[in-house]
Amino acid sequence: MVRADVIACLELWKETEALVMRIAADNKASVTGFLDRNQGLSFVAEAEGELIGNILCGHDGRCGYVYHLAVSQRSRREGLASAMLAYSIEALRKQGIAHCHTFVAFRNLTALKFWRSVGGNLRPDLRVVTIDVEERLPPAGKGWSHGPMLDTGASIP
Ligand SMILES: CC(C)(COP(=O)(O)OP(=O)(O)OC[C@H]1O[C@@H](n2cnc3c(N)ncnc32)[C@H](O)[C@@H]1OP(=O)(O)O)[C@@H](O)C(=O)NCCC(=O)NCCS
Repeated sequence: MVRADVIACLELWKETEALVMRIAADNKASVTGFLDRNQGLSFVAEAEGELIGNILCGHDGRCGYVYHLAVSQRSRREGLASAMLAYSIEALRKQGIAHCHTFVAFRNLTALKFWRSVGGNLRPDLRVVTIDVEERLPPAGKGWSHGPMLDTGASIP
C-alpha cells in the first residue's frame, strides 16, 4: 500500500460493514502519515485496476497491530484477507516484531471466524480502554464510563 492508494482505501472502508472508522484517524492526512511511519507493512489487493482489499498494519517497535482489514463483498472467501495478512505478518517478522494484535467489534462474528482460521487467539482476559487526549481528563476515579459488562466468554459458533 502506497500513498496513492489512500483515497481508494478510505472508500473501501466506508462501504465495508462492521468496520469501525474514527474521523480523527481515518482521513487522508492521518492515514498517509501512518504509512510513512510504517512502511512496507500494509497491503492492497487489486483486480482489473480496482482496489478490492486492504490491510492497514503497523507497529510501535514492540507489538504489531492490524488496524483495518477489509475485502469488498464480491471478492470474499477467495483467500484475499489471508494472503494480505500473510504479507503483513512476514513484514513484521522481518522487522523483528514477534506479536500482532487486532481489535474486533464484539459482535463481528465473521471477523472472529476469520481470525480463528488464521491461528489468532481470542483474548478473554483483556478489555480495550480508550482515552481521548484532546479532552481534559476527569479527576482520578471520577468520570469513568463504560459500556455494559458484556460476557466476554462467549464462544465463536
Ligand atoms: C473478515 C474479512 C476481511 C475476510 O476476508 P476474506 O478475503 O473473505 O477472507 P478469506 O477468504 O481469507 O477467509 C479465510 C477463512 O476465514 C474464515 N471466514 C472468512 N469469512 C467467513 C465467513 N463469512 N463465515 C465463516 N468463516 C469465514 C474461513 O475459515 C475462511 O476460509 P474458507 O473460505 O476456506 O472457509 C471480510 O469478510 C471483510 O472484509 N469483512 C468486513 C470487515 C471486517 O469485519 N474486517 C475485520 C475487522 S477485525
